[in-house]
Amino acid sequence: MKKSILITGGAGFIGSHVVKLFVSKYKDYQIVNLDALTYAGNLENLKEIEGAPNYTFVKADIKDADSLASLFESHKITDVIHLAAESHVDRSISDPLAFVMTNVIGTVNLLNVAKEAWEGELDQHLFYHVSTDEVYGSLHDDSFFLETTAYDPQSPYSASKASSDHFVRAYANTYKMRTVVSNCSNNYGPNHFPEKLIPLCIYNIKNNKPLPVYGKGENVRDWLFVKDHARAIDTVFHQGKSGETYNIGGFNEWKNIDIVRLLCEKMDQKLGRTEGTSEKLITYVTDRAGHDHRYAIDATKIQKELGWEPSLQFEEGIEITIDWYLANQDWLDHVTSGSYKDYYQDLYENR
Ligand code: NAD
Ligand code: TYD
Repeated sequence: MKKSILITGGAGFIGSHVVKLFVSKYKDYQIVNLDALTYAGNLENLKEIEGAPNYTFVKADIKDADSLASLFESHKITDVIHLAAESHVDRSISDPLAFVMTNVIGTVNLLNVAKEAWEGELDQHLFYHVSTDEVYGSLHDDSFFLETTAYDPQSPYSASKASSDHFVRAYANTYKMRTVVSNCSNNYGPNHFPEKLIPLCIYNIKNNKPLPVYGKGENVRDWLFVKDHARAIDTVFHQGKSGETYNIGGFNEWKNIDIVRLLCEKMDQKLGRTEGTSEKLITYVTDRAGHDHRYAIDATKIQKELGWEPSLQFEEGIEITIDWYLANQDWLDHVTSGSYKDYYQDLYENR
């Protein structure tokens, strides 16, 4: 059966890298990118493949069962890689219900439509849910998250992702759907919306704006280059065992304040500023409510069983990332002004 893969959230940060990888690497697959184009979805992320013969974009919401059902029918969807989600913890604190609606209801909706469309042949299709390490909660010692670590989500965002993971596994158990879940650490790289720590700091340093560090900046995150996550998703999609979970991470832990200082140092060099200039922008602000202290992934299983490991060291990845933002001022301007929405209008609505 020729593969026709539905990738949801493909106009977002990680999804766009997954779509670009699959469209360029697997010319015999049809790739259907479904995205609602919320504030986080940006078709400019996909310019280099938008004319490819094996690529289709569909603007739709995963909460809309009718649109999903007709899309499964018209594109004969064989597999799903599900990334569409509300993804920012701070937004989940101010509007938790939006996270329940998309991350929980939207995911269950998608599971239902897939189950119906694949009725009688569920063993021939795969539903892959892309999730986060945040479902495991907050570490306060030097241990790591394993695939067997009990879920203990602490924010509305992670609670909604945990819930959606549980539903995916429930469909595997109850209806014998072929499913796989991967839980990844924090990603960084090109096309990252500048509300998250790394792109926000790059943008603010460039524009001499304050760098808001929550609390004392002592919280720890494990950072992985986004293209390495996309490679891991490719690996899990093709080689992962049905019903399994794979943790994905970079074994690359940093305290927030150390990341911010590193960005200041590198940006001073690249912008020709005197050493120490950008550090003066660091501003300690009120801590995030319920701020998770530390995330750390043990990625041994995917390394040993599927042979995946990160291809880039952090030093190299962060250089590529900063250089990308400096070279793509237009992208940043469009995203920060909101005018990237016009790109969609021009491309898909005014023709
Ligand atoms: P993102 O916010 O950049 O992109 C999300 C995409 O989903 C956007 O294009 C948005 O338009 C789309 N979307 C949102 N609601 C939708 C809806 N109701 N219907 C259809 N499309 C909708 O997110 P991201 O950082 O690329 O994360 C992608 C996935 O990976 C998410 O499921 C997230 O939980 C997971 N994840 C993210 C990270 C990270 O560090 N960013 C780490 C691990 C896992
Ligand atoms: P973020 O990029 O929002 O990812 P997540 O909360 O999913 O890990 O935040 C990364 C870390 O940086 C987190 O500990 C919160 C902190 N942070 C700041 O200190 N200042 C900021 O402006 C932002 C956005 C995050």
